[in-house]
Amino acid sequence: MKSMLRVLSGDVLDVPPVWLMRQAGRYLPEYRAVRKQAGSFLDLVYDPIRAAEVTMQPVRRFGFDAAILFSDILVVPQGMGVDLDFTAGEGPKLKPVRERNDVSKLVIENENLWLRVFETVLRTRDVMKQEGFDDTTTLIGFAGGPWTIACYMVQGSGVDHDFNLVRKKAFSDPEFFDELIDKITTATIVYLCGQIQAGAEVIQIFDSWVGVAGGGLFDRYVVKPTRKIVDALSTKFPDIPVIGFARGAGNRIKVYADQTKVTGIGCDYTSDLLSVRMNVGKKIPTQGNLDPVVLLADGWACQNEIEKILEQTRGTPHIFNLGHGVLPETPVQHIEELIRIVRQ
Ligand code: CP3
Repeated sequence: MKSMLRVLSGDVLDVPPVWLMRQAGRYLPEYRAVRKQAGSFLDLVYDPIRAAEVTMQPVRRFGFDAAILFSDILVVPQGMGVDLDFTAGEGPKLKPVRERNDVSKLVIENENLWLRVFETVLRTRDVMKQEGFDDTTTLIGFAGGPWTIACYMVQGSGVDHDFNLVRKKAFSDPEFFDELIDKITTATIVYLCGQIQAGAEVIQIFDSWVGVAGGGLFDRYVVKPTRKIVDALSTKFPDIPVIGFARGAGNRIKVYADQTKVTGIGCDYTSDLLSVRMNVGKKIPTQGNLDPVVLLADGWACQNEIEKILEQTRGTPHIFNLGHGVLPETPVQHIEELIRIVRQ
């Protein structure tokens, strides 16, 4: 069995599998070249040939144990009928959903849009087979967590990292927010089932803004909808593992692990791996934790941080990864060095 799948089934490996969140991206010259040919970021996402190509680039260059589908979490709201734009240097812009009337207009799926993403998955598996990666490399599909998607949909961007407007809405109009989260959850299930049917072997749920889901919001809008997604997927595809990356969950990671039933736990760079392990128990696979900024630093700092994680996770099922996405300014040689240290 491939190393990623072995660890997600609970095996402890001497050398952990390694891949990096946001491993396909601007730090790679070959990505920038294809991105330029494609035009805009969204043009690239909806071009299955080019999207499969950039999915494979980091796998070919570094020999990662996993490839992650090249797409974006905001493809889900776009498929629900929300206007989406990526302006260079400013991040995503969405037409805000703030009134009950806006929610009722949302659709559950836009097959035409998502079919292109499913085709990317199909093609990537084909390319993996042609190039001899399919016996060792695992293809990960993904979606955003409903809470994180709702944050972008209500605020209309990611500029306020506290999402005050979103939390105010969630506390003051729970009926609006329940309906929004319900629709996102249903759409996400459709979207993820399509990826699995096309060949995704593992699913990761990126819930990047769990850190601001305070009070009752955590249980109602993070835990419950994530559980609903995991239940729906495991009924239809019992063999597909789901990794939950609840960034900023802190010590609520125990509740998240126990109640969502995800197969594996993503660890952000502020979490303490030993406490996470105490919280979630011996058996559940973990992933991540290395601060992506470490890869910007030269020399020993980098090596020490990597070795500390290897030490802290020895004897437990763990997938080596960052605690958030690769930064565009990361030197390629630092990633080569990381892999060398992890595998030596
Ligand atoms: O390599 C991979 O990991 C696969 C592709 C992937 C992208 N986005 C491509 C992308 C994945 C898994 C994501 C997830 C994603 N997207 C998240 C969750 C993870 C996290 O970072 O917290 C979020 C919040 C988004 C939303 C998003 N997409 C933002 C805020 C931005 C702008 C900031 C930025 O990094 O440019 C994006 C754009 C984006 N998504 C790029 C890529 C490669 C850069 C676009 C470009 O080429 O200009």
